[in-house]
This record gives sequence, structure tokens and C-alpha cells, in this order.
Amino acid sequence: MSGPPPGANMAQSRMEMAKNIKDEDKLYKFEGVIYSTIMSPVENLEAARTMEARADDVMLVAYPKCGFNWMVAVLRKIMAAVSGKKDVPDMPPLIEFFSPDVQKQLIAQQPSPRFLGTHLHPDNIPASFKEKKTKMLVVWRNPKDTLVSFYHFMNKNPVLPNVEWDKFFTDFMSGEVPWGSYFDQALAWDKLMDEPNVKIITYEDLKQDLSGGIKEISQFFGFPLTEEQVQTIYSETTFSAMKEGSSHGKMGSIFFRKGEVGDWKNHFSEAQNQQMDEEFNKRLAGTKLGAKLKYDTYCK
Ligand code: A3P
Repeated sequence: MSGPPPGANMAQSRMEMAKNIKDEDKLYKFEGVIYSTIMSPVENLEAARTMEARADDVMLVAYPKCGFNWMVAVLRKIMAAVSGKKDVPDMPPLIEFFSPDVQKQLIAQQPSPRFLGTHLHPDNIPASFKEKKTKMLVVWRNPKDTLVSFYHFMNKNPVLPNVEWDKFFTDFMSGEVPWGSYFDQALAWDKLMDEPNVKIITYEDLKQDLSGGIKEISQFFGFPLTEEQVQTIYSETTFSAMKEGSSHGKMGSIFFRKGEVGDWKNHFSEAQNQQMDEEFNKRLAGTKLGAKLKYDTYCK
């Protein structure tokens, strides 16, 4: 990559901008889905529609709070190890955060392989990624821990409005949260699970076996790693290593919270627990992605 990748300073300065904006103005809706006014204004989303993908782009996709930034670090380190270049600390490469100018100039001019990411619903990922069959790594997490992580994120991230727990629970269940419904996105990815250019991985499996995950990811993208490289990347991307060595500056405490499976038990009321179980049963149980999430193991 030439020069610092887009994103780093941009995200930091928009955080500053957020301090002068009222909570009620921090979100807006585009085609029925809520987005951040500051990070993903409408012109970013419109420009992204015509973004030109490349077959060898490395695309990371995740619903918010499923472990996106964790995998950003893993992928950057894999790509750095394979290219022999130094790892570049940077902010998330979310295409919907890039202004039309950044998309058309910086991103379009980056040498391959480019590293890109998104939280967008698969239907809203630029069509060109499907046409080019760009490989996409998709990270999922059980809905209870995702909801808890999202709730804390809303209250810590100055770009997003503060929200009370019970209100956020209701909003999450009805899909009235930034980037839309967890269940809608999960169902859409379930249908794409067998596509050869799609690989779905879960937060819980990564917590269980991060080295194995690093190997699977590098094989999927065709980046061969030595055992030693896998172990180095592993030791640099555990939760404690990332939290301590955070390259996110002020953002560190926002992105690295607990890093555990099961924190939902400290937040959900009995009624909320039941409501989530019912929703999961109604919508995702019986699907392939539903099975991969191991709901009975992690959410009961
Ligand atoms: P918690 O809020 O449950 O702690 P995203 O990057 O998609 O926003 O996801 C954020 C979640 O991933 C947070 O979960 C965060 O702590 C967790 N996380 C970040 N880095 C991690 C790591 N190296 N290992 C495990 N979890 C990590």
C-alpha cells in the first residue's frame, strides 16, 4: 500500500465531530436501514453501489460487534506476513465509512490485494463483489453476546446515541439499530453459505481455537503461512495482546471491552432471555448458520 491506508485519521476526526452533534441527529435511515450520520452519510452509501471490486480483494464482512476488528487485525497480519511488508496499524476498512472521493481515488488506486470490509447486509454489498466472486470472510457471533456488546458500544462510541438497556434490547430485536437487523442479515448469509467465495466463521469458534482459525482464514484467501507465522499472529491477536497493544488510540477502550463468551448472562432479564430464545427458534433454528452458532451451547 502507498501511504497510510484511508480510514485512520478520518475515523478519529469524525469522533471529534460527534461531540458537537445532538444524540437525536446521530442516526438516519437509508432505504429502511439505520446508519450513522457521521460515519456513513448517504453519499457514502450511494457511491458504494458502484464501487468496483477486484477478484483478489480481501473482503471482511461482519454484523456489528461480532468480532470485526479482531479479524481486521488477524487479516492485516496475515497479509503483512505473506507480503513481507510491515504491519500497518489502522482503523477498520469499512467501505461505507469512505467518502465518495476516497472510494473513487484512494481505494480505486490501491495496489492488489486490497483489504476491505463492511457491516452492510449482503444485498447492499456493491454488486461488483458478487460479479467478481471476491472472497468474503464473514464473522458471526451468538445474538445474545452480540446484543450486549452492541449496547455497550452505543453508549461508549461518541458517534452513536446513548441508549438505555431495555430500549436497546427492544430496538435490537426489531432491527432498529445501526446496520439493521441481526436476524435479517444472518438469514441472508445463511443462503450464501455454500458459495465457494464465502467463508463463515464464528466468534465462539475463534475464541476456542484462534490458531486453527488463523490457518483456515489464510488457506481460504490463499495466503500460505508457516507454523511459526501462525503462532506469531496468534500471540499478537489474543484479546489481552490486542487490548494492551491497542493501535486504536482513544478507540481502544471502545473496541476492546470484555472479549468473552457468555457476558449476556450478566445483562439479560428472564423475560428478555425467553424473548431471544423464541426469536432464535422462529428465525434461525434449523438453518445452517443457526447450527454453526451453537445456540444451545452458548445461549442457554
Ligand atoms: P465485547 O463487547 O463482548 O467485549 P467488533 O470489532 O465487531 O466491533 O466486535 C467487538 C467485540 O469483539 C467486543 O466484544 C470486543 O471486546 C471483542 N474483541 C475485540 N478484539 C478481540 C480479541 N482479540 N479476542 C476476542 N474478542 C475480541
